[in-house]
Amino acid sequence: MVARMTKRERDISEVLETLDVGDWRGPAHTNMPADAVTALEDGKVLYFPRLGFELAEKERRFLSPEVADAKAKNVSFDPNTGVLKHAVGSPEDLSIMKLMIGRYYESARALVQMLLPNYANALETGRTSFRPSEIACRRLSSKKDDTRLHVDAFPSTPTAGKRILRVFTNVNPDGQGRDWRLGEPFEEVVRAFAGRVPHYFGAGAFLLSAIGATKSRRTAYDHLMLNMHDTMKADEAYQRNAEQNRFSFPAGSTWIVYTDRVSHAAMGGQHLFEQTFYLPVSAMADSSKAPLRILECVTSCPLV
Ligand code: SIN
Ligand code: FE
Repeated sequence: MVARMTKRERDISEVLETLDVGDWRGPAHTNMPADAVTALEDGKVLYFPRLGFELAEKERRFLSPEVADAKAKNVSFDPNTGVLKHAVGSPEDLSIMKLMIGRYYESARALVQMLLPNYANALETGRTSFRPSEIACRRLSSKKDDTRLHVDAFPSTPTAGKRILRVFTNVNPDGQGRDWRLGEPFEEVVRAFAGRVPHYFGAGAFLLSAIGATKSRRTAYDHLMLNMHDTMKADEAYQRNAEQNRFSFPAGSTWIVYTDRVSHAAMGGQHLFEQTFYLPVSAMADSSKAPLRILECVTSCPLV
């Protein structure tokens, strides 16, 4: 008899915290507003099954892969500057698209402020992205392939330890879910991969920043996170055998997650909005739960 490797799975309630919120701007009619921050910082996904993002009639035509340039696949918007990138259309289309994506940013910000009021003053706004392409059709190199389990770390945007907090909404008009895998707890990811990261080379990081390859200097923390991101994506056996849960976020639902801590992979789905925020570790309710602090404990040195 051939022994079959069975993947371990946690009970989904250990991975997702379901919240009954039906309105982006509150008030917070939820089952557990005070604990939302604890669940999130512990590495759970906050899941809002009935919080959708309504599109106006004239916006529905943007639910097509053709509105994003073929190479980028996603439309990107910077709420700080108002610049829209990788969008295809007439000047009128682009201005309507910009308003639509800007409205998503405002909604995501209002939700986070209502649910996580202690973060409000420290929260920095990152990019908004609109993703009208089907994930399953993509063919990408392992480092760029988000169908492989990973924690987020961006090669050109070092965070120096700031948290990456993301809000996602599935706006699929045909009821198609956004199919994710959620991997093992961060401590386990660290146990499996931190020891395999090559030594940090400070002068190299300075050089990358000096030639403009990174927006700021890549710190020892960024180096560790980026290497863990790449190594876990490239490890086929890990991808197959690591503890993981599958979950399909239904059309018309929203979820919030610290993607720098929660191992995740997006396997299928089309038409999604995503808002990125950055949060300094000092603004967390419990900063010992930050990947920066967890990695500093493991490596016994400050990762600056
Ligand atoms: C990711 O953050 O890895 C991708 C999420 C998605 O597009 O569903
Ligand atoms: Fe990701």
